Amino acid sequence: RIVYCNGDFMPEEDARISIFDRGFLFGDAIYEVTAVLAGRLIDNDLHLDRLERSLAALSIPMPTPRSRLEQIQAELMARNGLSEGTIYLQVSRGEADRDFLYPEGLAPNFVAFTQARKLADTPAQRNGIAVDLAEDPRWARRDIKTAMLLGQVLAKRQARAAGYDDVWMVEDGLVTEGASSTAFIITTDGRVVTRPNSRSTLPGCTRKAVLRLCGDHGLRLEERGFSPDEAGAAAEAFATSASSFVMPVVKIAGSAIGDGRPGPMTRRLQSYYIEAAL
Ligand code: PDD
Repeated sequence: RIVYCNGDFMPEEDARISIFDRGFLFGDAIYEVTAVLAGRLIDNDLHLDRLERSLAALSIPMPTPRSRLEQIQAELMARNGLSEGTIYLQVSRGEADRDFLYPEGLAPNFVAFTQARKLADTPAQRNGIAVDLAEDPRWARRDIKTAMLLGQVLAKRQARAAGYDDVWMVEDGLVTEGASSTAFIITTDGRVVTRPNSRSTLPGCTRKAVLRLCGDHGLRLEERGFSPDEAGAAAEAFATSASSFVMPVVKIAGSAIGDGRPGPMTRRLQSYYIEAAL
């Protein structure tokens, strides 16, 4: 695989980052994941907007102009012959001797790579997934897409050990989001419900695209929090992310959702999303 590291394209085994990189020592880095389907980047403008927002929130400068970011993504896709999968971008604050406080003027480290994998029409997309529920273990600025992901790593691992595919996290009696996705339910009277954006969750790009599709297709929408009990009793549930599009959720912590199969509105949103992407 050919990867990008601080200005150059190279075989992955040649890429080098210092052990003093603050992303490595402190998780002082942000990232983005954009899906590629049929050789095209999906919702990439939304991902690059959020990359700029995350950097600004941490006062890390853009490592290279946005137009160059797009060229790098295109070149990685071309060099790796990527038609379906993801492109990962990570920008860290840069490197300095270890100190919580950082000196001014650090040069950010910027790396990018592709991951080839099937995203559309997978068994999980067709049959849905089972999610566990767990207390949200994360910090208070989840709106910034930082590489500080240990809470999600542990939560996903525990859910997998308990026989689930993924996990939705809970705080103050309400579902915050999936470990790497936005949580949605559909009420028995046909309303699509998801939390409003705040510092408690990542403002999902796929969420934004799906909310727009709900509007375009006249689906009723409510941006509000929902409890684990309401989720368990919902007619349908799904999760959205760049790497899973609209993913049906058919079981939440032991409760089958609806008849335990992906519901009709979830199916419609799945196909609207893929149609819009292609
Ligand atoms: N994760 N919430 C969290 C905590 C996430 O990590 C993600 C995405 C989302 C969905 O955001 P979007 O629709 O913009 O992908 C919500 C990516 C896919 C990841 O970490 O691999």
